[in-house]
Amino acid sequence: MPELKVLFSRQQIETRVAELGAQISRDFKGEQVTLIGVLKGAAIFLSDLSRHIELDATFDFISVSSYGNEKQNSGEVKLLKDVDQSMEGKNVILVEDILDTGLTLTYLTRVLNAHKPKSLRIAALLDKTTRRVQPIKAHYVGFEIPDEFVVGYGMDYAERYRNLADICIVP
Ligand code: IMP
Ligand code: MG
Repeated sequence: MPELKVLFSRQQIETRVAELGAQISRDFKGEQVTLIGVLKGAAIFLSDLSRHIELDATFDFISVSSYGNEKQNSGEVKLLKDVDQSMEGKNVILVEDILDTGLTLTYLTRVLNAHKPKSLRIAALLDKTTRRVQPIKAHYVGFEIPDEFVVGYGMDYAERYRNLADICIVP
């Protein structure tokens, strides 16, 4: 995709994701974890991250309404698909592509806490700290980024570009 500027190369992503996996492995040593991916943007991050987590792990997926084809978030979050399994008593790690305004993860934290997990943490590949509307933080962050719209490595613009290996900026 020659017109898009690379923000993080596949090598940079790979190195950082491996570090996050090692950190999670240390933090939950001897315990089980359940990774919950937020569809669809976090699918690639979850699949790479999980292979760097050396623990007994299970997967689940959750889906919320997205921006549609807009770059701007309407601010409204709707649950389209809940988790399949019970989260009660589990160490849940919510795996998300981008923490932006924080509306999505604030909503999902509330939904998942209702399942009474043993612990609940957030792993976000990217964090646009300056865009925050809700005061929410991720326990694991890949990279802090400026207020730019990015695609690739699972992230889309109008459903395109998810398959790019690098994370790129949409002008
Ligand atoms: P929040 O609720 O504003 O934190 O929005 C988070 C969601 O918006 C992320 O899970 C992404 O799906 C989407 N999003 C936010 N910024 C971007 C971006 O730069 N590129 C692609 N998707 C984005
Ligand atoms: Mg998303």
